[in-house]
This record gives sequence, C-alpha cells and structure tokens, in this order.
Amino acid sequence: MKIMSVVGARPNFMKMAPVINEMRKYNRERAGGEDARPQIEHFLVHTGQHYDRSLSDLFFADLKMPSPDVHLGAGSGSHAAQTAEVMARFEPVLMKEEPDFLIVAGDVNSTLACAMVAAKVSFRDGRRPLIAHVESGLRSFDRTMPEEINRVLTDHVSDILFATEESAVRNLQKEGIAVDTVFFVGNTMIDTLIAFQERAERSGILGRLGLNGSTGRAAPPFGLLTLHRPSNVDDRDAFLNIILALDEFAGQMPIVFPAHPRTRSRIREFGFEGYFHNGQNGAGDGPIRNRINIIEPLGYIDFLGLMMSSRIVMTDSGGIQEETTCLGVPCVTLRENTERPVTEKEGTNIVAGVEREGIVDAIRLQMSRSFKKKMPRNWNGKSSERILAVLLKEDRRRRAGVHASRV
Ligand code: UD1
Repeated sequence: MKIMSVVGARPNFMKMAPVINEMRKYNRERAGGEDARPQIEHFLVHTGQHYDRSLSDLFFADLKMPSPDVHLGAGSGSHAAQTAEVMARFEPVLMKEEPDFLIVAGDVNSTLACAMVAAKVSFRDGRRPLIAHVESGLRSFDRTMPEEINRVLTDHVSDILFATEESAVRNLQKEGIAVDTVFFVGNTMIDTLIAFQERAERSGILGRLGLNGSTGRAAPPFGLLTLHRPSNVDDRDAFLNIILALDEFAGQMPIVFPAHPRTRSRIREFGFEGYFHNGQNGAGDGPIRNRINIIEPLGYIDFLGLMMSSRIVMTDSGGIQEETTCLGVPCVTLRENTERPVTEKEGTNIVAGVEREGIVDAIRLQMSRSFKKKMPRNWNGKSSERILAVLLKEDRRRRAGVHASRV
C-alpha cells in the first residue's frame, strides 16, 4: 500500500504530522520478526507554497516530521499562478510514484491543486489514486474567501472525506456527497496539540519575551494576536479599524503579535508602524509593553506555549479557534463568520466581525467570562488512528474491487 501525502502551507503541517506519525507507528509494529507484514510505503510532497523558515522548516523540526521526499518549490503568486504552478509541478511526481492513496489536508491552494491533479490523472494501468481529504466539510458559506472555494472543490473531487465536526458531516450530506464516503474522525490538529502540550509548557517562550514574572510574582496577563487574512490586512481601512479596536484593549494589557510576512509588508506599505511596538524577539527595542508588540512568526511549540498562557486570543485564523477551545482560552475571531461552528457552540470562541465596536464589545465580554477546557466530540487525540484504520479498510476494499467511491 503506497500513500502519498501533501503539505504546502503552515496549517497543513499540524494536520498531517500525526497522520504520518501513525503510519510510522504502523510500520514499526509490523517490522522485523519472521512474519513481517507488508509496510505502508509513504511519500511526502512539500509544494513549497510556504518557504520561509518561520512558516515551514521550524514546523518540520518542532513536529519531528520526516524531510519531504520531494520539494516542488512552487512559491508565491496570485491564486491562479500559485495553484497552476503547484499543479504543473505535482503531476509528474504523481505519475512517477503511482500511489494508491493521496492525502491532502485543509483548505490552502496546495490542497486543491494536488487534489485536482489526482482526480484527473491516469496511471499506466488506467488507475488513479483514491483522494482522502483531512478536514473536509467545513463551510463558512462565504464564497469570497479563497479557502471556501478550496474546501468545496477539494471535497467534491475527493473519494474519502474525513470530517472534524458534526456540522461538516451535515454540510457534505446537503451537498449530495455519498454518506459512505464521509468519516467523522475528529481533529488531527488536536491530536498534535495533545501530543505536544507538555513540551510547549517548557518552551521557554515566556522567559524570552520577558513575560514570566519576576521571582515570587505571577506572570503578567497578556493577549495574543494573529492576523493575516487578505480581507483584513490588504485593505487599508479594514486593517486600521482592527488595529484601533485592539489598541484600545492594549492599554489594559500587552498584546503579543507574531506577524505573518504578508501582514508585515502591509504595515510598512500603509505606514502603520507607529501603531506597533517592536517587542523583544521582534528585531526591536526592548521588553514587551502595554501596546501591540510585534514579534517574528513563531514555530509550533513556542506558539502553543504562548497560547496556553495567554489571557485572551484574538485571531483571524481557522485552526486557532479550535486550539483555544481545547485549551479553555477565550478567543475573539476577527472575521464575519466561521466554518468551525462547534468552537462557538461548545467552545470558547466568539465571532466578533471586523468593525471596531464589535471587536471591543467581544473582547470585553470574553474577559468577563470564565471557561473550562472543552473537547468537542472525537477531539481526543485519536483522529489519526481512525484515519489510518479507514485507509487500511479502503485499501482492502480497493484490492477486492469493491471501493464505494466514484472511481
Ligand atoms: C495561506 C492560506 C491560508 C492560511 C495561511 C497560513 C491559501 C489560499 N491561503 O495564506 O488559508 O491561513 O496560508 O499562513 O492557501 N509569504 C512569505 N513567505 C512564505 C510564504 C508567503 O513571505 O513562506 C508571503 C508572500 O508575499 C506571499 C504572501 O505571503 O505572496 C501570501 O502567501 P500565500 O501562501 O499565497 O498565502 P497566505 O496568506 O500565507
């Protein structure tokens, strides 16, 4: 059984790492001995969508992922250029390797590009790989989001759909996807969180930022911010609205802001530098202050360490809404919608919108509430195990010629 998996951009790594780990575990358990059983042959593709050390290599090191078997070096570009570049570079690799399964994760351009190639490819014997989509079925119902387009299209060319929450299963059913191809396995990103939580507690990031309190004193409370969506940072007025709302709160406690490279360039382009303090570790001047402290993007362990200790998280990311729910940390989502409704229904998340007043109110409300850690159904560290069990079963069905999919 040969499985190819694809990663390309930052959020892919946390979702795929535990699945790869599960395959390694399976192989270890079957290695050696006289009755050594067939192993899974795994081939890892990195598309190169993210190429900065802080957005890619750091995650491979932190998550102990194997080096990619091939790096496509596709790089940045417009949506069309980037997607096309990944497709053109991926096709020959897929044709050469002829895997039985292709695993893609999440909703980035690399995910859709590779799924589309696999859906149309034809190997020498006329087969194509079965496409398995990790984190399928999530819907914001906002078609202006590039990720929503990626999610819908990837789901509709996939053969095996792994859902993280019950709303995703319902969405897929409403879209006419065959029920026997959808598996509610839970959240592999939370598998990773559970596996690395202890290491993150010892990451030392608080000390490096001067946030761990002096001897005998409790660590001072701080907020954590991430912001990178084009709709929030590419438009000057929209970006300024958000900054002004957060700046109001930053008078009460420091906000730590590991900034994505695109956000940094917009800050320079719009002349917004004055709204931020270049905190320690941000190539700047001195300790964290009661302001928005911009720092370099962090690796997985350091970011998780910071998130676990923060008083409140403000973000436009998808995955962080889920991680804060599991950590019991209040989250304010700086977007108009979420494709992860379980984080609002059962977790610690509020979707605040992107207007100043809404953000200020949401932060105030979240600061007045107390939350317990909450694990939505099937978010228990076993999602990758379930995924591998499904793939092994589908492999047996495939060999017997009875796969339920549309192949
Ligand atoms: C991508 C995903 C988004 C995800 C985010 C996480 C899509 C459509 N979007 O957005 O869903 O939340 O990753 O970070 O796939 N850049 C660098 N270094 C890099 C990569 C990018 O400087 O290593 C800069 C480039 O200027 C590039 C810009 O960031 O043009 C955007 O990168 P891109 O991969 O197109 O999208 P993200 O905004 O990172």
